[in-house]
Amino acid sequence: MTADPLVDAFARLLGPGGVLTSPEDRARFEKGWRYGAGTARCIVRPSSTAEVAAVLRLCGEQRVRVVPQGANTGLVAASTPDASGAMVVLSLERLNRRIEVDVHGRTVVVDGGVLLSQLNEALAKDWFWFPVDLGADPQIGGMVATNTGGTRLLRYGDVRHNLLGLEVVLGDGRVLTQLNRLRKNNTGLDPKHLFVGTTGVFGVVTRAVLQIAPLPQQRAVALVACQDGDTVLELLTALEGQLGEVLSAFEVMSANALEAVFAHQPNLRKPFAVLPRYAVLVELSSTLPASSFSLEAALQARLEWFVEQAGDGVLDVLVGNGDEFWQMRHHISESLRSVGKMLAFDISVPRSMLPAFTGEVERLLAADWPAVRLCDYGHWGDGGTHLNLVWAEAAVGKPAAEVVAALQPRIYELAVHGYGGSYSAEHGVGPHNQRYYDLYTDPVVKQLCGLLGDFCDPGQLLATVRLR
Ligand code: LAC
Ligand code: ZN
Repeated sequence: MTADPLVDAFARLLGPGGVLTSPEDRARFEKGWRYGAGTARCIVRPSSTAEVAAVLRLCGEQRVRVVPQGANTGLVAASTPDASGAMVVLSLERLNRRIEVDVHGRTVVVDGGVLLSQLNEALAKDWFWFPVDLGADPQIGGMVATNTGGTRLLRYGDVRHNLLGLEVVLGDGRVLTQLNRLRKNNTGLDPKHLFVGTTGVFGVVTRAVLQIAPLPQQRAVALVACQDGDTVLELLTALEGQLGEVLSAFEVMSANALEAVFAHQPNLRKPFAVLPRYAVLVELSSTLPASSFSLEAALQARLEWFVEQAGDGVLDVLVGNGDEFWQMRHHISESLRSVGKMLAFDISVPRSMLPAFTGEVERLLAADWPAVRLCDYGHWGDGGTHLNLVWAEAAVGKPAAEVVAALQPRIYELAVHGYGGSYSAEHGVGPHNQRYYDLYTDPVVKQLCGLLGDFCDPGQLLATVRLR
């Protein structure tokens, strides 16, 4: 027995380990990876769909708000409680047993709490993988709620693109079971889309059916040093023109972003004596065995051709060493955190406009905020750029909140209205972006979300972010 009758009810419902209350046990659920820190009333860890439903019914009776949480690796503060101490964190980490592979159907049915790494480990036994690839290790349910993008989106698409079916517990405990395993099923409304990229506000994803991909038999990787963004775009078009079917990543890293990586990852070596404005990580991959078609030879030949065309635009090309190049890429985000104050962006614009947009941000900073460094990197193949800004507080001479308040709305406005872009290309809305959702979302879309919310979550228990 505790002093909290709701906690006692959860303990009876979920058994040993099902509810955590001490500050030490709660800590890892209460703070997000980049944003979001609060205090939970308790953490509940159901291990079945029926238990998730029962938790939500209990919370509904007591009018207690709930934050669904996967691996807590999100970047928009959508998986952590607020400061009130009143919210319950519903962690899916014990709902992680089922991984049912259909080899010939090339699909998997997977519990929402299974980690991406666990799924891929299981799939590798049958020579498959789930190719939505990123630096973090999220849970599948969280990936659905966020519609994760990552570094291979240009080849395989985002989660939405690979999602066939879902089981979801709605806010009032009703279970929506649409575990569709068909690739073709054109029979009216496909409700799974309501739960993809909507941050868990319409329901808690407890199971998903995913299409999976055969593991590539070979990869070829190169790092191309480009002196400006226009050359990067030329390179992208040149690769798509001749090697489009096998191009699986096109990741762009600025010199400033890479400086941070080499300052904080002593085991990684600088690939170029002088870091170029942009180093592009190009990856080709294919299920064709190297004996029938060598990707490395094809990449080498195409890059040689491109270097001749591009003249001074390309400063250097390194082919091979893929693991090391990927480590650089995947360490950027955490390295930038350690540099000083940081304002992160997750913007997309039509990709032909990336150099112009980035140039405008550079000029804006040079004119008004010369001590703020642009450390941009991102998924240029999808028009995505993480235009992260970094500064030393002493050099800028203003509190960080003031810098953020001045720069964030200005850069979002430039992206959204100046370039027809998005203020959240892949990380989702979340409390971190609430203000901009409110500002930029069509009022009719908000009305629709209100109607859907009234149906899916009538008690508004799951309202960590307000889409209506
Ligand atoms: C990345 C994350 C931050 O691309 O989206 O590294
Ligand atoms: Zn990204």
